[in-house]
Amino acid sequence: MEIIVVKDYLAVSRLAATLLARQIKAKPDSVLGLPTGRTPEAMYKKLVELFSKGVLTFDQVCTFNLDDYVGLDQSHPDSYYSYMKKNLFSLVNLRAENIYFPNGDSADLADECADYERSIDSVGGIDLLILGIGHNGHLGFCEPGTSFASKTHLVDLSEDTRTINKELMSELNEVPERAISMGIGTMLKARSIILLASGSSKRDALKAALSGPVTESVPASVLQTHPDVIVIMDDAASLD
Ligand code: GLP
Repeated sequence: MEIIVVKDYLAVSRLAATLLARQIKAKPDSVLGLPTGRTPEAMYKKLVELFSKGVLTFDQVCTFNLDDYVGLDQSHPDSYYSYMKKNLFSLVNLRAENIYFPNGDSADLADECADYERSIDSVGGIDLLILGIGHNGHLGFCEPGTSFASKTHLVDLSEDTRTINKELMSELNEVPERAISMGIGTMLKARSIILLASGSSKRDALKAALSGPVTESVPASVLQTHPDVIVIMDDAASLD
C-alpha cells in the first residue's frame, strides 16, 4: 500500500484525476469503479476539464458505480445516479451503454444485485476502483460488519450514515433506510484501488483502516490485504 499525503483537498483531487487520466490513456477501454460523496467532486471537475481541453476521452471507458439508494428512481435528484449525471456523465463523452449503475428502484432487487456482478464480470472486471471512506470506515455502503467476501448486496444503512448523508439530500427529508452496494469481495477483485480522503473528520477512520487490525468491523481495513492500493489524503486527514 502506498500512502501519499498532499497539502489539501484540491491537491488530493488533482492527483486522483491525474492517476485516473493516466489509467485511461494507458488503456482507453478501462473499466472504472466510481464513488459518490463530497470527496470525489473536485476530482470529477478536473476530469471534465481534461475532457473539455481535448486531452482525455471517455469514448471507450466503462464505469460501474459503487452504490445507490433503494426506492429512488435514477432520475430522483437525491439518487447517486443523478449525482453522477450532474458531475460527470452529462459532461463527458461516456457512452450510455458503458455506464453501469445498481438500480435501487428495481422491482427485483436480488436479481439486480446478481445482474450487477454478472455485468462486472462480462467486461473483464474493474481495472481501477476509486473509493472514499465513511466516518465509520465504510466503503461504498458496506457498513461495519459486512463480510469481506460479500458481493453486490442490499444494505440496511446505519443510523450514523443516514445522519451524515442527510446533509446531502436536496429533496428528501430522510435518507432512505436501504441501499444497494458493491460488495467488499467485489471491490477486492479490482486490479488497482485508489482511496481518497480529505479533512480531519476522516482521521480516525483512516487510522483504524490503515494502521489498525484487518477486521470486518472496519470495512476499509481490508485494503491492507490488496496488492495494489494507493491512498491519497490531505494534511488534515493525515495520521500524524
Ligand atoms: C457515502 C458513500 C461512500 C462515500 C462515503 C464518504 O455514504 N456511500 O461511497 O465514500 O459516504 O462520503 P464523503 O466523501 O461525502 O465523505
